Amino acid sequence: MENSKSSNKLRNWMAFGATVIVVFLLGMFASSVTERKAEARVTYKPTVLLDKWEPRNEVWGKNFPLEFTSYYKTADSTYGSKYNGNTMIDMLEVDPRLVVLWAGYGFSKDYNQGRGHYYAIDDIRNTLRTGGPTNANDGPMPSTCWTCKSPDVPRLMEEIGVAEFYKGKWASKGEEINNVIGCADCHEEESMSLRISRPALIEAFERNGKDISKATHQEMRSLVCAQCHVEYYFDKKKIEGVPYLTLPWDKGQSAEEMEAYYDEIEFADWTHKLSKAPMLKAQHPGYEVYLTGIHAERGVSCADCHMPYKTVGGQKFTDHKIQSPLNNVQNSCQVCHREDAATLITNVYDRQDKIIENRDKLEELIVRAHVEAKLAWELGASEEQMKAILLDIRHSQWRWDYAAASHGGSFHSPVEIGRVISTGITIAQEGRIKLARVLANLGHNESVPYPDIATKAKAQEFIGLDMTKLKKEKEAFKQNLLPEWIRKIQERESKLDIRYY
Ligand code: HEC
Ligand code: HEC
Ligand code: HEC
Ligand code: HEC
Repeated sequence: MENSKSSNKLRNWMAFGATVIVVFLLGMFASSVTERKAEARVTYKPTVLLDKWEPRNEVWGKNFPLEFTSYYKTADSTYGSKYNGNTMIDMLEVDPRLVVLWAGYGFSKDYNQGRGHYYAIDDIRNTLRTGGPTNANDGPMPSTCWTCKSPDVPRLMEEIGVAEFYKGKWASKGEEINNVIGCADCHEEESMSLRISRPALIEAFERNGKDISKATHQEMRSLVCAQCHVEYYFDKKKIEGVPYLTLPWDKGQSAEEMEAYYDEIEFADWTHKLSKAPMLKAQHPGYEVYLTGIHAERGVSCADCHMPYKTVGGQKFTDHKIQSPLNNVQNSCQVCHREDAATLITNVYDRQDKIIENRDKLEELIVRAHVEAKLAWELGASEEQMKAILLDIRHSQWRWDYAAASHGGSFHSPVEIGRVISTGITIAQEGRIKLARVLANLGHNESVPYPDIATKAKAQEFIGLDMTKLKKEKEAFKQNLLPEWIRKIQERESKLDIRYY
């Protein structure tokens, strides 16, 4: 009796103790929430009024100096990791096989590794891919190419309409685009909440019966990036004469599903100069690949790794220096992982090394296939003989590019990228078996020599590019039309005011 009474007492005390602890913890939680709210309120001392679609980052910066200053650190171009980083790297020099893979397409002229957002406009003006337009209606690229470069894009879309924005040559909007990717691209002016400013992403959700405005806060921390770091193409059938930016997600987002979508509408980005295959250029399906990885599955967003929190002078804020997280492992990874920085970096490199080992093999196989197909045409192969082969070349290179262009994909989702590359290898080899048969039928019964493409210059000569001419045209553009754009931009922006509170 006595015993059970005292054990009852003990139980009561334990229950009471537990309640005290819970109440204490709840109190701590509530005070930390109010503290954080207070922190946020203290941080926000609006100095200026922001107009709808204000494109000038400096103006936003007056209200949010910490975010602004950190964002402009994307100008840093000194960090290089094993495969990525923000230095200017000429990828065609590093890997001249790319020139052959992209023969007949702009990327064979010039392709640098992506750098910080700060350079988005400089880099698109300077690349040989945009050519040397002499006036607003000249040049190889459409206006659509500006879409992921600047908050002047949503501003102009609001002013003239989305289709009108996409319409015309790249040079037709040169006088309008000035501010680098910035605040208005990701933030709503009044609440500062995250927003989607690019119609293509909203439309892709709609076509799949989804409403992007219903996305959770954590999803938005990735979706703001998915406005640009995604696969896309220019749909020329939607509105006559307008290369309408479209995400090919209607069947799904895997390499196979997007490929099936493109095959069904018989879309090709270009016809390969050597093999005549109807090619697809994967743009940068970074978001799609990320979705298939373990971090996405565990609810980790792009911003968690690429925009971690930072504290300056006791103020906690989101570090807007968007970059390789390997330059900031402490804030980007070690908030969740206990391993030391060197181990985490090794984990990343291990995955990248293993993926790239096979990606290199696939690349070589596709170069061979293009060269063998070229010979088959020269020996008189018929369209009928080549049809299945060209489809294999299209599909294998799409898979290679899906892996290569999904920047960071070898880490974001190594298993999926490994899978896609291995299907690419199988398809490339099947194509080459068919090619060997066709070549033998045409009387060529030995291996086709691998071209001498040891350097970028040799590879560009091999595919017949006149680089001197291209460079001359670019120089003329920089001397004539570009200063004219800059003069008009300055004139227009000098009339805009800043409205102080
Ligand atoms: C590529 C998208 C992107 C761009 C560009 C961008 N931001 Fe952000 N910003 C974010 C994300 C993501 C967060 C985290 C928001 C959250 O989780 O609520 C954020 C948070 C903020 C916050 C909330 C406070 C904080 O630090 O967490 C402010 C203020 C802010 N950004 C200001 C700016 C300013 C000013 C610019 C332009 C110089 C800018 N942002 C550019 C994505 C962006
Ligand atoms: C408006 C389009 C746009 C948005 C939105 C955008 N990016 Fe980018 N991003 C680009 C472009 C364009 C480049 C290449 C710039 C260059 O090389 O000149 C780039 C480059 C990068 C790089 C390479 C930079 C380096 O220094 O290594 C990273 C990393 C990156 N973006 C991550 C993100 C993340 C994360 C988000 C979302 C928080 C995001 N981006 C949102 C267009 C965008
Ligand atoms: C917000 C938390 C969070 C952040 C930030 C984060 N991770 Fe992770 N990471 C996870 C979770 C959760 C898993 C899945 C493992 C699990 O569930 O046990 C994971 C898994 C991994 C794995 C194993 C996945 C695989 O491919 O097999 C590696 C490696 C890894 N993380 C490295 C990194 C690196 C490097 C960074 C920084 C660039 C980073 N993580 C940032 C939460 C995080
Ligand atoms: C778990 C952390 C993590 C998440 C989540 C994550 N990334 Fe990354 N990202 C990395 C790491 C690590 C690398 C490899 C960096 C390197 O090799 O220097 C990388 C590389 C990149 C690169 C190439 C960087 C460069 O320097 O050229 C881009 C672009 C990129 N990520 C964009 C994104 C986008 C967009 C998302 C969301 C859709 C995302 N990342 C989600 C960790 C992450």
